[in-house]
Amino acid sequence: MAIIASNFKTNHTRKSTAAFIKEIDSFIKSNSIKNEIMIFPTATSLDSFEISENLKIGVQNAYPVEKGSFTGEIGTQQLDEFGIKTILIGHSERRHILKETQKQIAEKYNFYKELGYTIVYCIGEPLEVKKLGLEKTLEYLYEQFENIDTNYENLILAYEPVWAIGTGVSATNEDIKAVHEAIKKKIDKPLLYGGSVKVENVKEICSINSVDGALIGTASWVAEDFKQIIENTK
Ligand code: G3P
Repeated sequence: MAIIASNFKTNHTRKSTAAFIKEIDSFIKSNSIKNEIMIFPTATSLDSFEISENLKIGVQNAYPVEKGSFTGEIGTQQLDEFGIKTILIGHSERRHILKETQKQIAEKYNFYKELGYTIVYCIGEPLEVKKLGLEKTLEYLYEQFENIDTNYENLILAYEPVWAIGTGVSATNEDIKAVHEAIKKKIDKPLLYGGSVKVENVKEICSINSVDGALIGTASWVAEDFKQIIENTK
């Protein structure tokens, strides 16, 4: 069974999120989709739809607290209101744009792990590292596991090369295979690929042995496209 996940990033309103989720939910039902479908909408839209058992809804980020004085952040007191038990941690945009350090990421990971959340944990290398070859790429990727308990039962990994995110240029099947096989040898967890996955390439990427599914941004934001992606990986 594959895991097909959509990360909305900073896109969609409450209204369009509700419509999107309704459409995907009924598509899953009427097409007897067996794969696990996950959606990471914006936190502001979490009250705009009912969570159906066909879909796993997660947050793109949260602070490692229950509640308190952390201006601009949300914690588990807020997540609990929506029954959220899934979180994305370590995404490249949080590492590089929001400057989250590995220490902060590990703190967040450990906090949500203690609470039993499903964690989709992202790793990925920038282009300058990729250019140094596979060995250096793997070294860089392994550093992103510092202080992360990779034996955690509710852990899903996502390999998202930074240079492939939002560029329209996905990693080649050979690149994906090489990195995924190496990681899987060390860590026996579901491993998704992310980075310019789209309707046209999702089937081929997901048919690589060491790929357990896809984490998709841009190409998943229109419901028709996401339905096609789900259909193509059935
Ligand atoms: O988390 C998904 C992601 O970063 C990939 O984005 O737009 O390349 O599919 P995109």
